[in-house]
This record gives sequence, structure tokens and C-alpha cells, in this order.
Amino acid sequence: MSGNWKMNHDHLTAIRTVQALGFAVSAKDYRVVDVSLHPPFTAIRSVQTVLESDEMPISLGAQDCHFEDKGAFTGEVSAAMLAKLHVKYVIVGHSERRMYFGESNEVVRAKLEAVLRNHMVPIVCVGETLDEREEGATSERLSAQVTAAISGLAEESVSQLVLAYEPIWAIGTGLSASVEDATQACGLIRSLVAELSGEGASRAVRIQYGGSVNPQNTAEMLAAAGIDGVLVGGASLEAASFAAIISAAAGSSDA
Ligand code: PGA
Repeated sequence: MSGNWKMNHDHLTAIRTVQALGFAVSAKDYRVVDVSLHPPFTAIRSVQTVLESDEMPISLGAQDCHFEDKGAFTGEVSAAMLAKLHVKYVIVGHSERRMYFGESNEVVRAKLEAVLRNHMVPIVCVGETLDEREEGATSERLSAQVTAAISGLAEESVSQLVLAYEPIWAIGTGLSASVEDATQACGLIRSLVAELSGEGASRAVRIQYGGSVNPQNTAEMLAAAGIDGVLVGGASLEAASFAAIISAAAGSSDA
């Protein structure tokens, strides 16, 4: 399960939040849940220092990266640079990147390859808009995004991926998808992986649900067949609510 802080927390509030999380999460919850935190770039180094010095079993994550390892790309941060900071998971293709920064499926694919090339795990986000859902175009949209992300990749690479189903209308709105809709979409994503990369990859890949996840709806999402974890935005910003989500996840399944 992953906490995406988006453009929130400077390095000082980030340190305080991670320290508070250290007190709020019990050691037994960490043992059953794989947790990653995705601070903004400016706070990654500070969060890394706290996680390593306090020996907290939380993986460091990033929210994005550039697809080249270095070069004349003013303002950008490469996957190679993130790997040097011991980042393990990198979100690629978040709907906010696709929507506000014009990221195409091709760019998302190039970023995914950059993350794999640098020995980290991509968390690839896919999801439909409200209009697409209402027009009955959800499957088509998911299929186009998943195909662009993984077709032609080696089965071993696909097996390592985390795919996040994030319906755009559920992000930051307080309107989570129903368990049935999330289960159906995650099932479709898994069957696309089976078709494109084989049964082995479809079993190995981890699929998260994201969109208005909170301490109350985490357990029911994770109890659903085929939903392996959650990608949390707003509710990961405060240590108490993120700790409650981790503990709900630890009580229900591997997340
Ligand atoms: P939210 O964001 O939990 O605030 O809805 C989820 C996300 O964008 O990953």
C-alpha cells in the first residue's frame, strides 16, 4: 500500500509526519503490509534519512520521474537519481500527470521503462474519467492504457509491476468506487495482463485500488478478490489516518 503525498509537505513537515507514523504504526502491522511513502522530490532525502535512521520498514517512493537518465531537461528528475536515494517505487502515469501535464500513453511507457532500467518498481496508474464511465467506455480506456504500458515487455518485468486502478472521478472527491466496480475493473486489468504477458505475470502483478481511500473503506476494498493494495492520496498526509489505513490493511490481507 502506498501513500502519495502529491504537492504537500515541505521537508520539515515531512520529517514530522514520518516520525509520527513511526509511533503510530505497530511493528506487527508492518510485518504483513508492504508500505511505501511518496513525498515530493524536495522531501525525499529527508524522509529517507528518517526511515533509515529509525529503521522503519517503509519503502521510499517517488511520484514521477523523467524517462531519460540524464541530459538537458531543465527542472526534471531522472529515475537514475531517484535510485541513488534508495527509492524503491515510482508512480508513473498518475491521472494528474496525464491531465495537467499532458502525459501520453507513450510518455508513461517511456517512464515505466526508465524505472525498470534503474531497478525500481513502477506503480502504473490507469483509470477512466466520469464521462468515459457514463458512456460505457471504461473497459476500452483501461485496455488502451494497460496495452500501451506493458505490451512487448518481458514477462519478468511485467511480473514485478504494481498497477493502480484509479478512476479519475474518485480521486480527491470523497466518492470512492464501489467495491463491485473496483473489483470488476481490477479483474479486467488482470485479464489484460494475462492476455498480453501470460498467466504467470497476471498472478504475480500487484493491483491497487486508488481514489478516496480512507480508514473506513480500506478493509472492504482489500477483502475483495483481486485487489492487492491501495494507493492513498489525501488520507496519507496525516500520520494518524495513514496509520489507521495500514492497520486496517494488516487486519484484512497482504497489501
Ligand atoms: P485520494 O488520491 O486518495 O486523495 O483520492 C488518490 C490518488 O490520487 O492517488
